[in-house]
Amino acid sequence: MVVAKSWTMVRHFEGAPKPEDFKLIEKELPPLKDGEVLLESEFWSVDPYMRPYSKQKLKEGDVMMGSQVARVMESKNPAFPVGGYYVAYAGWTTHFISDGKGLAPLPSNWPENLPKSLALGAAGMPGLTAYFGLLDLCNPKEGDVVLVNAAAGAVGSIVGQIAKIKGCKAVGSAGSDDKLGFLKEIGFDEVFNYKTVSSLAEALKKASPDGYDCYFENVGGKFADAALQQMKDFGRIAVCGAISLYNDSVPSTGPYIQPYILFKQLRMEGFIVTRWQDRFPEGQKQLLQWIIEGKLKYHEHITNGFENMPASFMGMLKGENIGKAIIKV
Ligand SMILES: NC(=O)c1ccc[n+]([C@@H]2O[C@H](COP(=O)([O-])OP(=O)(O)OC[C@H]3O[C@@H](n4cnc5c(N)ncnc54)[C@H](OP(=O)(O)O)[C@@H]3O)[C@@H](O)[C@H]2O)c1
Repeated sequence: MVVAKSWTMVRHFEGAPKPEDFKLIEKELPPLKDGEVLLESEFWSVDPYMRPYSKQKLKEGDVMMGSQVARVMESKNPAFPVGGYYVAYAGWTTHFISDGKGLAPLPSNWPENLPKSLALGAAGMPGLTAYFGLLDLCNPKEGDVVLVNAAAGAVGSIVGQIAKIKGCKAVGSAGSDDKLGFLKEIGFDEVFNYKTVSSLAEALKKASPDGYDCYFENVGGKFADAALQQMKDFGRIAVCGAISLYNDSVPSTGPYIQPYILFKQLRMEGFIVTRWQDRFPEGQKQLLQWIIEGKLKYHEHITNGFENMPASFMGMLKGENIGKAIIKV
Protein backbone atom coordinates (compact mmCIF):
# COMPACT_ATOMS: atom_id res chain seq x y z
CA MET A 1 0.00 0.00 0.00
CA VAL A 2 1.41 3.40 -0.97
CA VAL A 3 0.84 6.53 1.09
CA ALA A 4 0.75 9.75 -0.95
CA LYS A 5 1.78 13.01 0.68
CA SER A 6 0.19 16.15 -0.75
CA TRP A 7 0.31 19.87 -0.03
CA THR A 8 -3.13 21.47 0.12
CA MET A 9 -4.07 25.15 -0.07
CA VAL A 10 -5.79 25.76 3.27
CA ARG A 11 -7.21 29.15 2.26
CA HIS A 12 -7.04 31.41 -0.79
CA PHE A 13 -3.94 33.60 -0.68
CA GLU A 14 -4.31 37.18 0.43
CA GLY A 15 -1.30 39.14 -0.74
CA ALA A 16 1.90 37.08 -0.75
CA PRO A 17 1.36 33.37 0.10
CA LYS A 18 2.31 32.53 3.70
CA PRO A 19 3.47 29.24 5.32
CA GLU A 20 0.13 28.86 7.15
CA ASP A 21 -1.73 28.84 3.81
CA PHE A 22 -0.40 25.31 3.16
CA LYS A 23 -1.01 21.99 4.89
CA LEU A 24 0.64 18.61 4.34
CA ILE A 25 -1.77 15.66 4.25
CA GLU A 26 -1.30 11.93 3.78
CA LYS A 27 -3.61 9.53 1.99
CA GLU A 28 -3.40 5.79 1.35
CA LEU A 29 -3.82 5.05 -2.34
CA PRO A 30 -6.15 2.17 -3.36
CA PRO A 31 -4.95 -0.84 -5.39
CA LEU A 32 -4.75 -0.24 -9.15
CA LYS A 33 -7.68 -1.07 -11.40
CA ASP A 34 -7.22 -2.27 -14.96
CA GLY A 35 -6.04 0.59 -17.18
CA GLU A 36 -4.44 2.51 -14.30
CA VAL A 37 -0.83 3.32 -13.39
CA LEU A 38 0.82 4.34 -10.13
CA LEU A 39 3.43 7.08 -10.43
CA GLU A 40 6.02 8.52 -8.07
CA SER A 41 7.03 12.17 -8.53
CA GLU A 42 10.77 12.86 -8.76
CA PHE A 43 10.79 16.57 -9.63
CA TRP A 44 8.14 19.23 -9.12
CA SER A 45 7.83 22.68 -10.61
CA VAL A 46 6.75 25.83 -8.83
CA ASP A 47 5.52 28.52 -11.21
CA PRO A 48 4.09 32.03 -10.94
CA TYR A 49 0.78 30.96 -12.57
CA MET A 50 -0.08 29.04 -9.39
CA ARG A 51 -0.65 32.36 -7.60
CA PRO A 52 -3.41 33.79 -9.90
CA TYR A 53 -4.81 30.44 -11.11
CA SER A 54 -5.25 29.00 -7.61
CA LYS A 55 -7.79 31.77 -7.05
CA GLN A 56 -9.68 30.87 -10.21
CA LYS A 57 -9.43 27.09 -10.21
CA LEU A 58 -8.98 25.77 -6.65
CA LYS A 59 -11.30 25.49 -3.68
CA GLU A 60 -9.94 25.93 -0.19
CA GLY A 61 -8.59 22.55 0.96
CA ASP A 62 -7.74 21.34 -2.56
CA VAL A 63 -4.31 19.93 -3.38
CA MET A 64 -2.14 22.72 -4.86
CA MET A 65 -2.00 22.68 -8.64
CA GLY A 66 1.19 21.93 -10.51
CA SER A 67 3.27 19.67 -12.69
CA GLN A 68 5.93 17.07 -12.02
CA VAL A 69 8.21 14.59 -13.71
CA ALA A 70 7.10 11.22 -12.43
CA ARG A 71 8.15 7.59 -12.89
CA VAL A 72 5.75 4.69 -13.31
CA MET A 73 6.06 2.40 -10.25
CA GLU A 74 3.31 -0.06 -11.09
CA SER A 75 1.20 -0.44 -14.21
CA LYS A 76 -2.03 -2.08 -15.24
CA ASN A 77 -1.94 -0.20 -18.55
CA PRO A 78 0.40 -1.58 -21.24
CA ALA A 79 0.79 1.89 -22.81
CA PHE A 80 2.61 3.09 -19.65
CA PRO A 81 5.35 0.59 -18.73
CA VAL A 82 7.01 0.46 -15.31
CA GLY A 83 10.08 2.74 -15.25
CA GLY A 84 8.73 5.17 -17.86
CA TYR A 85 9.03 8.91 -17.17
CA TYR A 86 6.17 11.32 -17.80
CA VAL A 87 5.31 14.97 -17.26
CA ALA A 88 2.02 15.11 -15.38
CA TYR A 89 -0.25 17.77 -13.94
CA ALA A 90 -1.12 15.92 -10.76
CA GLY A 91 -0.53 18.76 -8.29
CA TRP A 92 1.80 18.96 -5.31
CA THR A 93 1.80 15.26 -4.50
CA THR A 94 4.40 12.51 -4.05
CA HIS A 95 2.41 9.61 -5.59
CA PHE A 96 -0.70 9.42 -7.70
CA ILE A 97 -2.81 7.07 -9.76
CA SER A 98 -3.56 7.95 -13.37
CA ASP A 99 -5.57 6.40 -16.18
CA GLY A 100 -2.92 7.77 -18.55
CA LYS A 101 -4.86 10.83 -19.71
CA GLY A 102 -2.65 13.91 -19.73
CA LEU A 103 0.60 12.00 -19.12
CA ALA A 104 3.20 13.32 -21.57
CA PRO A 105 6.20 11.02 -22.16
CA LEU A 106 9.66 12.53 -22.20
CA PRO A 107 10.78 12.57 -25.87
CA SER A 108 12.33 9.24 -26.88
CA ASN A 109 15.58 11.01 -27.88
CA TRP A 110 16.01 12.58 -24.39
CA PRO A 111 19.80 12.57 -23.85
CA GLU A 112 21.01 10.43 -20.91
CA ASN A 113 23.18 13.27 -19.59
CA LEU A 114 20.36 15.83 -19.38
CA PRO A 115 18.44 16.10 -16.11
CA LYS A 116 14.83 15.00 -16.53
CA SER A 117 13.79 18.10 -14.60
CA LEU A 118 14.47 20.11 -17.77
CA ALA A 119 11.11 18.78 -18.98
CA LEU A 120 9.64 21.25 -16.46
CA GLY A 121 11.97 24.08 -17.48
CA ALA A 122 14.12 24.91 -20.50
CA ALA A 123 12.74 21.96 -22.51
CA GLY A 124 9.25 22.13 -21.01
CA MET A 125 6.45 24.62 -20.46
CA PRO A 126 8.64 27.67 -19.62
CA GLY A 127 10.96 27.02 -22.58
CA LEU A 128 7.96 26.63 -24.90
CA THR A 129 6.49 29.85 -23.51
CA ALA A 130 9.69 31.70 -24.40
CA TYR A 131 9.97 30.00 -27.79
CA PHE A 132 6.45 30.57 -29.11
CA GLY A 133 5.79 33.87 -27.33
CA LEU A 134 8.96 35.44 -28.69
CA LEU A 135 9.06 33.93 -32.17
CA ASP A 136 5.34 33.95 -33.01
CA LEU A 137 4.23 37.19 -31.35
CA CYS A 138 7.32 39.43 -31.29
CA ASN A 139 8.57 38.18 -34.65
CA PRO A 140 12.18 39.25 -33.99
CA LYS A 141 14.40 40.06 -37.00
CA GLU A 142 18.18 40.04 -37.11
CA GLY A 143 19.47 43.30 -35.60
CA ASP A 144 16.31 43.96 -33.56
CA VAL A 145 16.58 44.99 -29.93
CA VAL A 146 14.65 42.63 -27.64
CA LEU A 147 13.78 43.61 -24.08
CA VAL A 148 12.75 41.04 -21.45
CA ASN A 149 12.10 41.48 -17.72
CA ALA A 150 12.31 38.80 -14.99
CA ALA A 151 15.14 37.94 -17.38
CA ALA A 152 17.03 35.59 -15.04
CA GLY A 153 13.98 33.39 -14.49
CA ALA A 154 12.75 30.24 -16.19
CA VAL A 155 11.09 31.97 -19.14
CA GLY A 156 13.14 35.18 -19.35
CA SER A 157 16.53 33.45 -19.49
CA ILE A 158 15.37 31.43 -22.50
CA VAL A 159 13.82 34.46 -24.23
CA GLY A 160 17.13 36.36 -24.15
CA GLN A 161 19.09 33.39 -25.49
CA ILE A 162 16.64 32.73 -28.33
CA ALA A 163 16.85 36.43 -29.18
CA LYS A 164 20.65 36.03 -29.46
CA ILE A 165 20.29 32.86 -31.57
CA LYS A 166 18.13 34.93 -33.93
CA GLY A 167 20.80 37.65 -34.22
CA CYS A 168 19.14 40.25 -31.99
CA LYS A 169 20.50 42.42 -29.21
CA ALA A 170 19.16 41.15 -25.87
CA VAL A 171 18.45 43.53 -22.99
CA GLY A 172 17.35 42.06 -19.66
CA SER A 173 16.37 43.32 -16.23
CA ALA A 174 16.46 41.34 -12.99
CA GLY A 175 16.34 41.90 -9.26
CA SER A 176 19.86 41.14 -8.01
CA ASP A 177 23.46 41.66 -9.07
CA ASP A 178 24.06 37.88 -8.99
CA LYS A 179 21.28 37.55 -11.54
CA LEU A 180 22.93 40.21 -13.73
CA GLY A 181 26.15 38.15 -13.64
CA PHE A 182 24.19 35.08 -14.77
CA LEU A 183 22.58 37.05 -17.61
CA LYS A 184 25.97 38.21 -18.87
CA GLU A 185 27.24 34.61 -18.70
CA ILE A 186 24.43 33.37 -20.92
CA GLY A 187 24.98 36.09 -23.49
CA PHE A 188 22.73 39.06 -22.74
CA ASP A 189 24.21 42.26 -24.20
CA GLU A 190 22.85 44.76 -21.68
CA VAL A 191 21.48 44.13 -18.20
CA PHE A 192 20.30 46.20 -15.26
CA ASN A 193 18.96 45.68 -11.77
CA TYR A 194 15.45 47.16 -11.73
CA LYS A 195 15.53 47.33 -7.93
CA THR A 196 18.62 49.52 -7.63
CA VAL A 197 18.54 51.80 -10.70
CA SER A 198 17.53 55.34 -9.83
CA SER A 199 15.22 55.55 -12.86
CA LEU A 200 13.78 52.73 -14.97
CA ALA A 201 13.38 55.16 -17.88
CA GLU A 202 17.07 56.12 -17.76
CA ALA A 203 18.20 52.49 -17.40
CA LEU A 204 16.13 51.48 -20.43
CA LYS A 205 17.45 54.45 -22.42
CA LYS A 206 21.06 53.67 -21.51
CA ALA A 207 20.69 50.00 -22.49
CA SER A 208 19.26 50.89 -25.91
CA PRO A 209 19.29 54.62 -26.75
CA ASP A 210 17.23 54.10 -29.93
CA GLY A 211 14.51 52.09 -28.17
CA TYR A 212 13.13 48.58 -28.49
CA ASP A 213 11.68 46.58 -31.39
CA CYS A 214 10.42 43.71 -29.22
CA TYR A 215 9.35 43.60 -25.61
CA PHE A 216 8.67 40.27 -23.90
CA GLU A 217 6.63 41.25 -20.88
CA ASN A 218 6.78 39.12 -17.71
CA VAL A 219 6.28 41.72 -15.02
CA GLY A 220 3.74 44.49 -15.85
CA GLY A 221 3.07 47.46 -13.58
CA LYS A 222 5.59 50.28 -13.35
CA PHE A 223 8.15 48.47 -15.49
CA ALA A 224 5.65 48.25 -18.35
CA ASP A 225 4.72 51.92 -17.97
CA ALA A 226 8.38 52.86 -18.49
CA ALA A 227 9.11 50.32 -21.24
CA LEU A 228 6.07 51.10 -23.40
CA GLN A 229 7.30 54.67 -23.79
CA GLN A 230 10.58 53.45 -25.26
CA MET A 231 9.29 51.21 -27.99
CA LYS A 232 10.29 51.93 -31.57
CA ASP A 233 7.67 52.53 -34.25
CA PHE A 234 5.87 49.28 -35.12
CA GLY A 235 7.28 47.59 -32.00
CA ARG A 236 5.85 44.21 -30.96
CA ILE A 237 4.96 43.34 -27.38
CA ALA A 238 4.17 39.81 -26.16
CA VAL A 239 2.39 39.96 -22.81
CA CYS A 240 3.41 36.72 -21.13
CA GLY A 241 3.02 37.61 -17.46
CA ALA A 242 2.38 40.36 -14.94
CA ILE A 243 4.08 39.00 -11.82
CA SER A 244 4.39 42.40 -10.13
CA LEU A 245 0.58 42.50 -9.95
CA TYR A 246 -0.28 38.90 -8.92
CA ASN A 247 -0.26 39.57 -5.17
CA ASP A 248 -2.38 42.76 -5.41
CA SER A 249 -5.55 42.53 -3.33
CA VAL A 250 -6.91 45.65 -5.03
CA PRO A 251 -6.13 45.94 -8.77
CA SER A 252 -3.48 48.61 -9.42
CA THR A 253 -4.12 51.46 -11.81
CA GLY A 254 -1.45 52.97 -14.01
CA PRO A 255 -1.02 55.44 -16.87
CA TYR A 256 -3.42 55.00 -19.79
CA ILE A 257 -1.38 53.25 -22.45
CA GLN A 258 -3.41 53.96 -25.59
CA PRO A 259 -1.36 57.01 -26.71
CA TYR A 260 1.90 55.00 -26.67
CA ILE A 261 0.31 52.21 -28.65
CA LEU A 262 -1.32 54.61 -31.09
CA PHE A 263 1.49 57.02 -31.95
CA LYS A 264 4.20 54.32 -32.17
CA GLN A 265 1.77 51.97 -33.97
CA LEU A 266 2.59 49.13 -31.57
CA ARG A 267 1.19 45.62 -31.57
CA MET A 268 0.57 44.16 -28.12
CA GLU A 269 -0.83 40.68 -27.56
CA GLY A 270 -1.38 38.57 -24.49
CA PHE A 271 -1.00 34.81 -24.67
CA ILE A 272 -1.26 31.56 -22.76
CA VAL A 273 1.27 29.02 -23.99
CA THR A 274 -1.31 26.24 -24.39
CA ARG A 275 -2.56 27.99 -27.54
CA TRP A 276 0.41 26.29 -29.27
CA GLN A 277 -0.28 22.87 -27.71
CA ASP A 278 -0.43 21.16 -31.10
CA ARG A 279 3.03 22.57 -31.90
CA PHE A 280 4.68 21.61 -28.58
CA PRO A 281 6.60 18.66 -30.13
CA GLU A 282 8.13 21.01 -32.72
CA GLY A 283 9.10 23.56 -30.03
CA GLN A 284 10.45 20.92 -27.67
CA LYS A 285 12.53 19.33 -30.43
CA GLN A 286 14.14 22.68 -31.27
CA LEU A 287 14.77 23.61 -27.62
CA LEU A 288 16.38 20.22 -26.93
CA GLN A 289 18.55 20.54 -30.02
CA TRP A 290 19.78 24.01 -28.95
CA ILE A 291 20.47 22.66 -25.44
CA ILE A 292 22.46 19.70 -26.82
CA GLU A 293 24.42 22.02 -29.15
CA GLY A 294 25.25 24.29 -26.21
CA LYS A 295 23.43 27.24 -27.77
CA LEU A 296 20.83 27.32 -25.01
CA LYS A 297 22.17 27.26 -21.47
CA TYR A 298 19.99 26.36 -18.53
CA HIS A 299 20.22 26.93 -14.82
CA GLU A 300 18.06 25.28 -12.19
CA HIS A 301 17.40 26.56 -8.70
CA ILE A 302 16.97 23.22 -6.91
CA THR A 303 15.25 22.86 -3.54
CA ASN A 304 15.70 19.46 -1.93
CA GLY A 305 12.75 17.76 -0.27
CA PHE A 306 9.02 17.70 -0.97
CA GLU A 307 8.44 19.13 2.52
CA ASN A 308 10.06 22.38 1.30
CA MET A 309 7.66 22.93 -1.60
CA PRO A 310 5.73 25.87 -0.09
CA ALA A 311 9.03 27.57 0.85
CA SER A 312 10.30 27.10 -2.71
CA PHE A 313 7.06 28.55 -4.15
CA MET A 314 7.12 31.57 -1.83
CA GLY A 315 10.83 32.07 -2.51
CA MET A 316 10.33 31.98 -6.29
CA LEU A 317 7.62 34.64 -6.07
CA LYS A 318 10.08 36.79 -4.08
CA GLY A 319 12.84 36.29 -6.63
CA GLU A 320 15.12 33.78 -4.84
CA ASN A 321 15.58 31.67 -7.98
CA ILE A 322 18.12 31.97 -10.77
CA GLY A 323 16.71 30.02 -13.70
CA LYS A 324 13.97 27.45 -13.16
CA ALA A 325 12.71 26.78 -9.62
CA ILE A 326 12.58 22.99 -9.16
CA ILE A 327 11.94 20.76 -6.16
CA LYS A 328 13.72 17.44 -6.06
CA VAL A 329 12.55 14.44 -4.08
N1 LIG B 1 1.52 33.21 -20.57
C1 LIG B 1 1.97 32.00 -20.29
O1 LIG B 1 1.53 31.00 -20.86
C2 LIG B 1 3.05 31.88 -19.25
C3 LIG B 1 3.74 30.66 -19.06
C4 LIG B 1 4.78 30.63 -18.13
C5 LIG B 1 5.09 31.77 -17.40
N2 LIG B 1 4.37 32.91 -17.60
C6 LIG B 1 4.70 34.15 -16.89
O2 LIG B 1 6.05 34.45 -17.16
C7 LIG B 1 6.61 35.17 -16.06
C8 LIG B 1 7.89 34.47 -15.63
O3 LIG B 1 7.58 33.15 -15.21
P1 LIG B 1 8.74 32.13 -14.81
O4 LIG B 1 8.12 30.80 -14.66
O5 LIG B 1 9.87 32.31 -15.74
O6 LIG B 1 9.15 32.63 -13.36
P2 LIG B 1 10.60 33.08 -12.90
O7 LIG B 1 10.97 34.27 -13.71
O8 LIG B 1 11.51 31.92 -12.89
O9 LIG B 1 10.36 33.49 -11.38
C9 LIG B 1 9.64 34.62 -11.07
C10 LIG B 1 10.57 35.85 -11.05
O10 LIG B 1 9.77 37.02 -11.11
C11 LIG B 1 10.49 38.09 -10.57
N3 LIG B 1 9.59 38.95 -9.80
C12 LIG B 1 8.84 38.63 -8.73
N4 LIG B 1 8.16 39.71 -8.29
C13 LIG B 1 8.50 40.73 -9.12
C14 LIG B 1 8.13 42.11 -9.17
N5 LIG B 1 7.28 42.66 -8.30
N6 LIG B 1 8.68 42.87 -10.16
C15 LIG B 1 9.55 42.32 -11.04
N7 LIG B 1 9.93 41.04 -11.03
C16 LIG B 1 9.40 40.25 -10.08
C17 LIG B 1 11.57 37.49 -9.65
O11 LIG B 1 12.84 37.80 -10.21
P3 LIG B 1 13.60 39.19 -9.87
O12 LIG B 1 14.66 38.84 -8.87
O13 LIG B 1 14.16 39.58 -11.19
O14 LIG B 1 12.60 40.13 -9.31
C18 LIG B 1 11.33 35.99 -9.74
O15 LIG B 1 12.52 35.24 -9.74
C19 LIG B 1 5.54 35.20 -14.98
O16 LIG B 1 4.86 36.44 -15.06
C20 LIG B 1 4.60 34.07 -15.37
O17 LIG B 1 3.29 34.27 -14.91
C21 LIG B 1 3.37 32.97 -18.50
